[in-house]
Amino acid sequence: MALVSPSLLSADFGNLQRDIEMLNSGACDWFHLDVMDGVFVPNISFGFPVMEAVARAARKPLDVHLMIVEPQKFLPQVKALGAKVMNVHYEACTHLHRVVQQIKDAGMMAGVTLNPHTPVCVLEEIAADLDLVMLMSVNPGFGGQKFIAHAVDKTRRLRELLDRRGSKALIEIDGGVNRETGKLLVDAGADVLVAGSAIFKASDPEAEVLALKALTR
Ligand code: DX5
Ligand code: ZN
Repeated sequence: MALVSPSLLSADFGNLQRDIEMLNSGACDWFHLDVMDGVFVPNISFGFPVMEAVARAARKPLDVHLMIVEPQKFLPQVKALGAKVMNVHYEACTHLHRVVQQIKDAGMMAGVTLNPHTPVCVLEEIAADLDLVMLMSVNPGFGGQKFIAHAVDKTRRLRELLDRRGSKALIEIDGGVNRETGKLLVDAGADVLVAGSAIFKASDPEAEVLALKALTR
């Protein structure tokens, strides 16, 4: 069974409470929160006031994806949300080892995210310290983009690297995930599937969650 983390970026922000309650009463595992700063990615999404409102309403753990420069600056605020996972980008952290230790010391799962062009081999020396690795299967910044197919092979290579390094890190995939791409990803070793448009644009969002959750390798 895959873990499913719906991305609230595709929710209806005019009816956020309604969409959160829909997910609360369903089978999804985490809430994926996409934070963008207009610098690391060419878009701006939402910040802490919105996430605090989500945190109050959510009855699922929060999976925070920081698409921002200097993510370590916001570690206390992410911790104050009560987040389960703090995902920082490899490309945004000069001192990734320190940031990872700080996230773990704060009691959260330390996740490191790789952009599509970043090879998995950059994680060789830090794999054993990680709780989660997230691969972007689109260029971050927007929901609803086309899945980049090489993420499937990359997932396989990441699984091999983590096993070889004795890392227990979960593999999460973000971008263009639906039932078809999700199946390929889970077969390749993915544990957690993020899905925005596939869930929220569906006529029956919960059926999509259940279809993704049912994927097994
Ligand atoms: C992209 C975000 C994703 C996005 C996924 O920058 O990190 O989480 O919302 O949306 P879909 O599933 O529509 O590609
Ligand atoms: Zn994301």
